[in-house]
Amino acid sequence: MTGPAETELLAADAAGIARAAELLRSGALVSFPTETVYGLGGDAADDRAVARIFDAKGRPRFNPLIAHVPDVAAVDRIAELTGRARDLAGAFWPGPLTLVLPLRADAGLSPLVSAGLTTVAVRVPDHPLARRVLEAVGRPVVAPSANPSGRISPTEAAHVVSGLGGRIEAVLDGGPCAVGVESTIVGFNPEPVLLRPGGLPTEAIESALGAPLSRRAEGAEINAPGQLSSHYAPDARVRLDAETARPGERLLGFGAVAGDVTLSESGDLVEAAANLFRMLHALDAAGDAPIAVAPIPETGLGRAINDRLRRAAAPRT
Ligand code: TXA
Ligand code: MG
Repeated sequence: MTGPAETELLAADAAGIARAAELLRSGALVSFPTETVYGLGGDAADDRAVARIFDAKGRPRFNPLIAHVPDVAAVDRIAELTGRARDLAGAFWPGPLTLVLPLRADAGLSPLVSAGLTTVAVRVPDHPLARRVLEAVGRPVVAPSANPSGRISPTEAAHVVSGLGGRIEAVLDGGPCAVGVESTIVGFNPEPVLLRPGGLPTEAIESALGAPLSRRAEGAEINAPGQLSSHYAPDARVRLDAETARPGERLLGFGAVAGDVTLSESGDLVEAAANLFRMLHALDAAGDAPIAVAPIPETGLGRAINDRLRRAAAPRT
């Protein structure tokens, strides 16, 4: 399917929000900022809009989408939010947490959203523009990260335009995303299981649960590109755990390892997460020399950073 010729750039004001909501309600695709990354929004009840999201991203149809809603009352209309899932919702929503929950039979979502599964991934984002758009739309909005499938996620409107410009109707420009990595995803089997490390540190979830979070076994039931080994890839090759650059490499630094660009000079993982995709986009745009990356501690947001970097460094499929 061919997309629209031009992508409207909408300002972060009342008129921009109203236009974004009007377009979404009419079945158009609109990228909007969340606290994690920019999402590519579409009406979750509209089969054609949801199908166009898969087309615009080049995303395999078996990879389900996250439904975004403004509050817990709206979650209750589409999913079963009970027990520890409800506790996590109370502790962390709005915020960078996605819960995979049993889908309600009367949810009214397009079956493409959950790719035929009996569960649905749901998130209440913590970004004033996202929340105002969701409130104005009045229906769940599916929003994968607004990048071509397999590429680096966007943390600025310009990233969205360079990846999807001409394929989607509009981008609501809310400036850079504060968190910078995608949401942490937790499923229930029925014990809580970490499906994707992300913007909410697992330590915070474990302390709310009062118990360690189990990890999804590799190759277990859900097999989605976001969880495949090669993903989030720049064009350039990526080498991890580099203390120094080899000849011809560019170095992405962290802490004591100063690079051509540095994720956080003070070794702050929150700052590093916020900078990660922007710096990868910039390095990618600047040339195809290999990128060496300094070691990042496997703690707090470091888990999400390392997860994305390992995928960027994985052999390409
Ligand atoms: O921070 C985020 O989560 C961003 C912003 C825009 O909200 N969205 C995002 O969406 O990262 P996406 O589509 O790039 O990643 C969604 C992930 C995929 O790995 C998908 O496989 C998984 O969620 N997922 C969705 N529905 C699922 C389900 N029912 N069961 C298991 N995994 C699911
Ligand atoms: Mg994604």
